[in-house]
Amino acid sequence: MSIDTLNMSTPAAVRRVSEVRAVVDLDEPGAVISRHVYGQFAEHLGHGIYGGFWVGPDSDIPNIRGIRTDIVEALREIRVPNVRWPGGCFADEYHWRDGTGRPGSRARMVNTHWGDVVEDNSFGTHEFMLLCELLQAEPYISANVGSGTVREASEWVEYLTRGDDSPMSALRRQNGRDEPWKVRFWGLGNEPWGCGGRMDAEAYAATARTFGTYSRDHGGNKLYRIAAGANSDAYEWTETLMRTLGFRLGHSRPEGEGVGAYQAISFHSYTVPGTAEAKGSATCFETDEYYRTLARATQVGEQLQRHAAIMDAYDPDRTIGLALDEWGVWLDAEPDTHPGFLYQQNSVRDALVASIHLDEFHRHADRLVMANIAQTVNVLQAVLLTDGPTLIRTPTYWVFEMSKGHQDAHSLRVRLDNVRRVESDGRSLPLASASASRTEGSALISLSNLDADEPALITVELRGGVAGAARGRMLTADRATAHNTSANPDLVTPVELSVQQRGSDLVVELPPHTFATIELEVG
Ligand code: AHR
Repeated sequence: MSIDTLNMSTPAAVRRVSEVRAVVDLDEPGAVISRHVYGQFAEHLGHGIYGGFWVGPDSDIPNIRGIRTDIVEALREIRVPNVRWPGGCFADEYHWRDGTGRPGSRARMVNTHWGDVVEDNSFGTHEFMLLCELLQAEPYISANVGSGTVREASEWVEYLTRGDDSPMSALRRQNGRDEPWKVRFWGLGNEPWGCGGRMDAEAYAATARTFGTYSRDHGGNKLYRIAAGANSDAYEWTETLMRTLGFRLGHSRPEGEGVGAYQAISFHSYTVPGTAEAKGSATCFETDEYYRTLARATQVGEQLQRHAAIMDAYDPDRTIGLALDEWGVWLDAEPDTHPGFLYQQNSVRDALVASIHLDEFHRHADRLVMANIAQTVNVLQAVLLTDGPTLIRTPTYWVFEMSKGHQDAHSLRVRLDNVRRVESDGRSLPLASASASRTEGSALISLSNLDADEPALITVELRGGVAGAARGRMLTADRATAHNTSANPDLVTPVELSVQQRGSDLVVELPPHTFATIELEVG
């Protein structure tokens, strides 16, 4: 394929265009990509809940019993599968009973982690469960292990999920909810090595086993308990948590009391372009920082692979799931905002951080059961930002929207050839990333051109299937720093991408720093 055939305005001879080949095997469907790797995370932090999801029933901003209508609509469009709540670090200080009962008369507390502000608990269990119902998303609730009690966690499960007239179900009815809710995902604390209690792996594993044991299944409700795991590459946490379940290298699945204490192990992985003190600006960065951010984002692939390898060694039948229940780019808070509220803008570069992560999630579909971007609204790598009554969909939002067809589809292997690389942060960063999936009559291919300056001509070679109609979309802008604001909310939104079909090849040209998808009918 000659680049001249693509009808580009500048002659090929004077343009630098990388020519990349992507081979997709349509006839070798791999593991199903759990929809839950597209999960969200909503913590009581800054304006994530208050001034984000929650405006209260008396607000002028349209709302459904206090929850912003436009946020619900925007998140329904990306098919949010689950929402993790109430934290984060906040979860290990949260006492759930304070967030129940008549609004206005609820107990207050200090949110010591995030801004040292007073929390009035007006958004509590009932409000969160309403949010999940509106989103048609599953709740993922993190119990307080750091400063709570086993009894408190146990009673919260009973309150949420029990149907008869037990003490906690009676209390729930008294608070206005007759029917029990369905709750599957149940987190056992958060970052126990840090804000969640400064424990070592052994101490936490024993604690998790106790909390997991007393977080009971009531009636038909079956909990899927998720133990809080490693920070990024602290692989020994994963090993300790596997051993605590009774797994031993070279032995078959253990039986006995400890085995059901948790069904999955999580870890967290943030992408920080700079240092802990100076993380980097969301909207002012040069090319070297752009590449460093992407190079650091790619580390999640190795982390997934190594956590999964440890789990495979102990549990070759893959009975225990891996969850990455916090991920995203963590930047300096915007100037003139509360530093403890972690409010940051979101650029095209961050959209590429997202696409790199999603590609890795698709590749690790055989072990990864869940992932949650941090966080949904107004916090860190937000998919949505609010500015008074205006709702802004960020570039990261659009990556989720364009990728939603991967949910529950079979992962397909993609081999990339002839990819240019740059050296950054001691790593060799490939300047293209891709993944693909298929369902019964269709396939979805994700392609990212990570090159800061040069377009990429990508030829997708489809093997093992007959391709029908193809629809391409891309997310790009003149600059990688481009972002959406209330003055210009649609600066970075998907546009049509021309896809040339040549026999079993698809050819697209992606501008620099661009994410694209091709939806394909497959025979
Ligand atoms: O997402 C913000 C914070 O990052 C969470 O509360 C904590 O778990 C992590 O350190």
